[in-house]
Amino acid sequence: VIDIRALGSQLGYFTYDPGFMATGSCESGITFIDGDEGILLHRGYKIAELAEQSDFLEVCYLLLNGELPNAGQKQEFDQGITYHTMVHEQMQFFLRGFRRDAHPMAVMTGMVGGMSAFYHDSLDIHDPHQRMVSAHRLIAKMPTLAAMAYKYSIGQPVVYPRNEMSYSENFLHMMFGVPCEDWKSNPVITKAMDRILILHADHEQNASTSTVRLAGSSGANPFACIAAGIASLWGPAHGGANEAVLSMLQQIGHKDRIPEFVKRAKDKNDSFRLMGFGHRVYKNYDPRATVMQKTCHEVLSQLGVKDPLLDLAMELERIALEDPYFVERKLYPNVDFYSGIILRAMGFPTSMFTVLFAVARTVGWISQWKEMIEDPSQKIGRPRQLYTGETERPFVPLAKRG
Ligand code: ACO
Repeated sequence: VIDIRALGSQLGYFTYDPGFMATGSCESGITFIDGDEGILLHRGYKIAELAEQSDFLEVCYLLLNGELPNAGQKQEFDQGITYHTMVHEQMQFFLRGFRRDAHPMAVMTGMVGGMSAFYHDSLDIHDPHQRMVSAHRLIAKMPTLAAMAYKYSIGQPVVYPRNEMSYSENFLHMMFGVPCEDWKSNPVITKAMDRILILHADHEQNASTSTVRLAGSSGANPFACIAAGIASLWGPAHGGANEAVLSMLQQIGHKDRIPEFVKRAKDKNDSFRLMGFGHRVYKNYDPRATVMQKTCHEVLSQLGVKDPLLDLAMELERIALEDPYFVERKLYPNVDFYSGIILRAMGFPTSMFTVLFAVARTVGWISQWKEMIEDPSQKIGRPRQLYTGETERPFVPLAKRG
């Protein structure tokens, strides 16, 4: 690894690296990935162990603070988050300004950005206490906003948060409960929800996290930065992939048609790609996909759902992993390959899949933002470019242009 900061500024150098294939943008102590070995660690802990043994709020504490909490710290943190689960009542009016058929990711981008207008008492990024309050507010309110966006889209009244429930249980309650009716949680489903949130909590300098850091590097407030991250996550090459996987599987429709789609994915004249396959960093099986596949089987069996899309997905994976094209390019299923099937079985509509990713990733974004703000060497992010346009030329008045 070469640190070119001094070299670049002294000699006027910069590197040209479209897509940042070989550029480290920051130092970070939060998440470690070894893409060749398929390893993902948060603060040193293996993702599979966290998904199996921890809960989402404990992972939030870990990402934000660097260590796992003791029992007292955990209780205090959980209470600190639940204290903020409600959103300002006026935000309901803001929500009503959107069309009911708006994509919930569009609503989330607007609502989270709008939090800077509703919670301007914690916008001072130089005050550590206010930074933490904003972090807690974001982690606490994201499920509430996500469920509000969903309920609004189906014309149902908003379900208020219940603070005696766990984070995931409360989220499912706000999504699928109906006011004045008793809602019963299913422990297997709640655990699966928690696991999905843990698996998506952070993934170092991906497009949305880099967007959050870049936005934050100018001193922008945390709500605005997270809204920028949500916008970046929405794209089908990033968080939108889980939605795209499901529509691809539906489009394939039957096992017999898999070879046709695999052939298309290999054809360089066809823009079609196998969604949920490949990753910029992993050149091995994505460790999150392993846990996701196991969770998928657990949830479907618990709910008694026999989803033909799961069989289709497994067959597609088998065929692709035997194909030299995918083997040579080290294209394996990523975290999103199985997540859509689980979410569908739980009752989430496809349009909410990426919203769920945003709910989970908020802690990663805000932890990375906080780490950046607290780094004394932090500078505004300002990439350079290779200019390929015209050289200097004289202005031609309108009357003289042909
Ligand atoms: N299907 C078919 N071919 C693929 C796929 C795919 N899913 N992914 C990559 N390739 C091929 C490319 O065509 C390229 O082939 P070539 O060398 O012959 O030109 C080679 O593999 C390398 O691909 P790049 O696009 O250069 O890899 P990059 O690191 O830029 O892209 C990405 C990574 C965006 C994830 C890509 O694999 C992709 O589009 N996958 C499908 C979308 C997806 O699942 N995204 C979710 C990512 S995980 C996440 O955000 C949580």
